[in-house]
Amino acid sequence: MHTPTLLTFLLSFASAGVLAAPPKPDPPHKPAAAVKCPLIFDGRIKARTQLTDFDSSTTSLFNPDNVKGSNLKWSQILKFPEGEKASRFDTCSHKPLEVTIGDDSVFKTQYGFRRAGLIFAADTNTGSPASKGIKTLHFSVKQDPKRGLNLTHEYLNIWHETSDWSANQFNFQTGTIIGQPKLPKDTFKIMGRENKLIWQTPIEKKEWQNFAITLDFNKNTLQVYYSKGNEPLGSVTKPVKNNNAGEGQYQFGILKKPTGTDDVVNSGYQESGIDEGQIYGGIFIEDSADGCISL
Ligand SMILES: *[C@@H]1O[C@H](CO)[C@@H](O)[C@H](O)[C@H]1NC(C)=O
Repeated sequence: MHTPTLLTFLLSFASAGVLAAPPKPDPPHKPAAAVKCPLIFDGRIKARTQLTDFDSSTTSLFNPDNVKGSNLKWSQILKFPEGEKASRFDTCSHKPLEVTIGDDSVFKTQYGFRRAGLIFAADTNTGSPASKGIKTLHFSVKQDPKRGLNLTHEYLNIWHETSDWSANQFNFQTGTIIGQPKLPKDTFKIMGRENKLIWQTPIEKKEWQNFAITLDFNKNTLQVYYSKGNEPLGSVTKPVKNNNAGEGQYQFGILKKPTGTDDVVNSGYQESGIDEGQIYGGIFIEDSADGCISL
C-alpha cells in the first residue's frame, strides 16, 4: 500500500519527469510458471548443460546408453536450438533441447525405425515411483522449421512402455497413424493403450505447445491438459478409462515408423538423407496425489 505521503512524493517527481523510466528491453525470459507439486523426475535442461553431458551417466539426467543408434553418441543426436525462448515451465536457468534423427538412427537391428529416445536415469523399468499412484507428465514441444517431420510417416514422440515391452500405456504421436487413415496427419495425438485416439490438436508451426498427462495408476485413467505459448494449461479431456498397468518407463524423442510394411520394427521404407528434429522443453513428472497439478 502506498501511504498518501509517499504517493504525493512520487507524483511530485513523476510530474517533474524525474520518474519517467526509460523503456525496458524485453526480458530474455518470461517468468516461468511454478511447479506446484512434488517433483518425481525433473527433465528440464539446465542452461549450463553441455551436449557431452548426455554421454555419461555421471552428468546426464537420462540413460546415456539408450535408446539410439549404436554408433551415435547423445552429443551427436541432441542440439540446443539457438535463440529459442524457454517454454512455460522452464525458468531462465533452463533451455530447450532438440532430439534429432538421421539415417544412422537405427537401434540394434530395428532397421524399420529411425529412433532416438531419452529415458530418465532414475526411471527403473520396475518399481519406478513414476509408474504408481497418480503422476502427471509435463512436456512442451516446438517445431524446428529446418528439421521438419515428414507427416506421411507415423511418429511416436513420447510414451510410456510396459516393463515387458508388450504395450505402451499411452502414446503422444504425430503424422499418419498406420491403419487409421481417417485421422489427420498434421496433429499431435494422444492415443490410449488400445491405440485409440483420446485427443488431438493441430501442430503449431511457431509456438510452444504445452501438454500434461495425468496417469492414475490406481483407477486406470488418463487425463489430458493443454495450452499454447505461455498460457496456463486447461483440461481438454475428463479422466478417461485407460489400462495403465504393467509399470515400465517413460521415453521422449522421435521414433519414426517406416511406410509400406506390416513389420514396422524390422522392414519397410525409410527415405535416405533424413535430418529431422523435435524440440522439447519443460519436461518433468510431478506427484498428482490429492489432485495436485501445475497449470
Ligand atoms: C515423405 O515420406 C514419403 C514416404 O517415405 C516419401 O515418399 C517422401 O519423399 C517424403 N517427403 C519428403 C518431403 O521428404
